[in-house]
Amino acid sequence: MKKRLGAIIYRTLKNDLTFDEIMDVIEIPKAKQFGDYSFPCFVLAAVYKKNPHQIALELEGKFHDEFITQAAAAGPYINFRLNREIVSMECLQTIGPYQSAEKTKVMTIDFSSPNIAKPFSMGHLRSTVIGQAIANLGERCGYNVIRINHIGDWGTQFGKLIAAYKRWGNEESVKENPIQELFRLYVKFHEEAAVFSDLIEEGRSWFKRLEDGDTDALKLWKWFREVSLEDFQRVYKLLGVQFDAYNGEAFYNDQLSHISDLLEERGLLKHSEGAMVVPLDNVNLPPCLIRKSDGATLYATRDLAAAFYRKETYKFNKSLYVVGMEQSMHFKQVFAVVEKMGFSWHKDIHHIPFGFILKDGKKMSTRKGKIVLLEKVIKETISAAKANIEMKNPELENKDEVASAVGVGAIIFHDLKNDRTTNIEFSLDEMLKFEGETGPYVQYTHARACSLLRKGSGIKSEKTRALTDEHSWEVQKLLVQYGQVIQSSFEKYDPSILAKYLLHVSRVFNSYYAKVKILEGNQSLTSRLLLVQSVRDVLKDGLSILGIKAPEKM
Ligand code: ARG
Repeated sequence: MKKRLGAIIYRTLKNDLTFDEIMDVIEIPKAKQFGDYSFPCFVLAAVYKKNPHQIALELEGKFHDEFITQAAAAGPYINFRLNREIVSMECLQTIGPYQSAEKTKVMTIDFSSPNIAKPFSMGHLRSTVIGQAIANLGERCGYNVIRINHIGDWGTQFGKLIAAYKRWGNEESVKENPIQELFRLYVKFHEEAAVFSDLIEEGRSWFKRLEDGDTDALKLWKWFREVSLEDFQRVYKLLGVQFDAYNGEAFYNDQLSHISDLLEERGLLKHSEGAMVVPLDNVNLPPCLIRKSDGATLYATRDLAAAFYRKETYKFNKSLYVVGMEQSMHFKQVFAVVEKMGFSWHKDIHHIPFGFILKDGKKMSTRKGKIVLLEKVIKETISAAKANIEMKNPELENKDEVASAVGVGAIIFHDLKNDRTTNIEFSLDEMLKFEGETGPYVQYTHARACSLLRKGSGIKSEKTRALTDEHSWEVQKLLVQYGQVIQSSFEKYDPSILAKYLLHVSRVFNSYYAKVKILEGNQSLTSRLLLVQSVRDVLKDGLSILGIKAPEKM
């Protein structure tokens, strides 16, 4: 709809602005009495060398198209009303699940990527749900999507962990509760090492053995990795998330020397005191560390290897990394190295940062063992949802399935409704709210639409007629924006655009429901049911893109 209006304005202005320039400035007026869309004439002031007020007055009479029923100057703006007949018919006949574009391109997306032997943190939860939503959006917008979990499964910490396990651990305890036990050992190592400094050396030597391929060390590492992944799988299963690859940091072990060779060949490596770096002062960044003086390889080197591996293996057109804001510098450096090496695809790789999860205004840290266990949070939310059902709708079939959809929906939505880059305060109470700006509120609205459609299913249908009254208009005007919302949500890599839109649709539909007797009176009954159907389809489709299920009954 906005595009159609944009095209009319473009035509009327006879190339004085580009179509994109016009689309960028078209707004939705703050109050609906001003109209459906408005065009600010400020953008024309420089072109016409007149004041915007005057431009608006001169232009208002020039828009001739059946799609527009009013173009009126108001100060520096031209306010438009759209032809409700046309928009309504289009809405009722075409708005449903988003029509995906044909998949002609490839996008890799690195998300979630927790570290083994450590609890799945709230930060990893953010990466997981944001990543999943962006992956789904990409799939709708013409990409074959490869979901990659870049597990943190290599580094000096595994030397420490092995040392701790050898001293204080045993098989049974790890088997019983893998991550918790491994994490306990890891924390204990740090506490003890603060007093007995020879422990540090012990950890270092175990890591050396690991890097040298020592059987004992490797066996333990493999086992830690396996049991950790099993633990993570439980969380992924609860959240309904899947990956195409679990190639973690260790996967790149044998590709690292190739990276330093490539850098050496191009004369980009600087050796200093045994360490190797790529200087990046030309782009105002600190040097990227490729190899430490003790020979240990680094996070950045593995990411370089991963970038090349992904380019070669998947031939991506776009490669995304959904990782917290605190790693922005790291990704800038890695991408800058790819650019320095002369690969033009450095333009196709993007870090998609997100804000922190705060607890009482402070960053949450896993360091001292003070962590919130995600699995516990999810389960708690699900049982709260279950209790809610028992209270409000004890007769409901599949209570457990619905409770799990609602509990998980609450958690995912709680995160996704925030602008991607803002920090969010962790609050279980907020996650347990099922009303207001929440996932369950959207799910509930969807279930209400389903129920209306069930009740209306026996009704004999008549010809579809446009709905042009004020109440229907508010809903339809929003519904026809769905496609645009999906696209800009993907273009900006921000699922919150979609989440907020779904809240908006829910609110507007619920007030429509409160004012209009949908199932009463034969006049336009078919059309009202079609409207309800579009609402149901859009809510269900939108939720599924966010990774949230939409039960038909709640
Ligand atoms: N494991 C890392 C962490 O928890 C995140 C990895 C992100 N992906 C990457 N390719 N560096 O901080």
